[in-house]
Amino acid sequence: MRGSKPMTASALALAIAWISLAASQALGATLTVKAGESIQAAVKRALPGDRIEVEPGLYRETVFIDKDGIELSGIVRGGQWPVLDGENELNDGVLVSGHGVTIERLWVKRYKGNGIMTQGSNNYRIAYNVVEGPCFYAIFPQFGKNGLVTHNVAFGSEDAAIYVGMSDNVDVVHNQTYASIIGIESENSHDILIENNYVHDNVVGIATTMLPALPVKSSDRIIIRNNIVARNNMKNTAPPGDNDGVGVMVSETNFLVTTPDDRMDPFPDSTQVLRNVFLNNGSNPQGTLRDLLDIAGVERGVDVLATGKGRDHCIADRLALTTLGTRNFADCAPGTTSAAVASMQTAKPVVATPYTADQKGRLTYLAVCTGCHTYNSKLVGPPMVVIKALYGKDAQRLADYIAKPVRKRPDYPEMPSQDYLPEDIRLAVARYILSELSH
Ligand code: HEC
Repeated sequence: MRGSKPMTASALALAIAWISLAASQALGATLTVKAGESIQAAVKRALPGDRIEVEPGLYRETVFIDKDGIELSGIVRGGQWPVLDGENELNDGVLVSGHGVTIERLWVKRYKGNGIMTQGSNNYRIAYNVVEGPCFYAIFPQFGKNGLVTHNVAFGSEDAAIYVGMSDNVDVVHNQTYASIIGIESENSHDILIENNYVHDNVVGIATTMLPALPVKSSDRIIIRNNIVARNNMKNTAPPGDNDGVGVMVSETNFLVTTPDDRMDPFPDSTQVLRNVFLNNGSNPQGTLRDLLDIAGVERGVDVLATGKGRDHCIADRLALTTLGTRNFADCAPGTTSAAVASMQTAKPVVATPYTADQKGRLTYLAVCTGCHTYNSKLVGPPMVVIKALYGKDAQRLADYIAKPVRKRPDYPEMPSQDYLPEDIRLAVARYILSELSH
């Protein structure tokens, strides 16, 4: 054996990195939430970087995480899960606006809006959860960078079960989605990897789309590979305009919505539909899709449907598939991306600047209030124009109302309390509505 060498500079750097890593891990405390207690109360007590463990039991609440580095982790014991139940009353299960947050091993069910949603969060991880409908979106990371959505089971969504909206650098891998209008959807997003998912018995299996009138105006570099896309034939219960039964859909905006947006690129670009297993999709197409198939003379269900003039798409295995509208897709060169792209996440966490109070107000409005309110028409609650007129400049009064809503209108249901939102966030959202919101 040779004598020990002096530590090289790089070894020293490594040691320091290791020590600081260990230190940073040791810094976070672990809080435990037991059945009958409130998860939100633990989030309130937690400091950034803390881990919150949730014991098996029933939790009827909305959990709002506005701190960085929180790890919300369910404990599953003897088959018993921590269950968050919205009882078809509450709008959101877990709402995250902090950066670097982990949500794992929770059973989230029956929230009217979103099961698990991140808004403006970067560097997040949503893993090993079960999200059960009815809900609108089961798992909905929105407007964030660098995330991982893995090993979740999501079903019973009245829209997309996993919906990646206005996001960059996200891996959606090893999930199972079913019994939803869309199994997995990427919308107005860039650098998204959709791989190794089992997407079955939905109306549409996997979709990449563009929606108008959003701050992100394009969609680019979506890779769809190694998924099992099977039996996506479910009867469509969504409003007319949605379409039945396709495996993968790459669609331009006008196919779904007709609101014009001049500043937008209406077509997703650079979608790669690589090798996937397609089984028995679209055996019962209806509506617009049925018409399209009739025009094209296609009798069988469609594995891959594309509309519009997106650029730089490619498709693998074309001859094995029934496709429609993929003429402008190149044949993907074998192995190109499979070998080169193992993940779309960034090598290092992206810089996550804290949001200003104004930005938090806007994000909270988008994440929470739009579940029930729109600007100028009646949804679950009254239109925001009416609310603006009622409250004028009195943001404090509005903030107080949403903490303790009282019944005002006989023809509306009761508004659920938003007191899980911290006081400063309630005021920020009230200010945003009264002084900035204009459409
Ligand atoms: C789950 C649905 C739901 C969510 C989420 C929701 N609201 Fe409401 N909201 C309602 C309903 C329903 C009413 C009508 C209640 C009534 O008039 O009795 C209402 C009424 C209101 C009013 C009218 C108060 C008044 O004096 O007439 C305000 C203000 C309001 N909401 C603000 C908000 C804000 C801000 C948010 C987001 C933080 C929000 N709401 C989230 C359902 C919701």
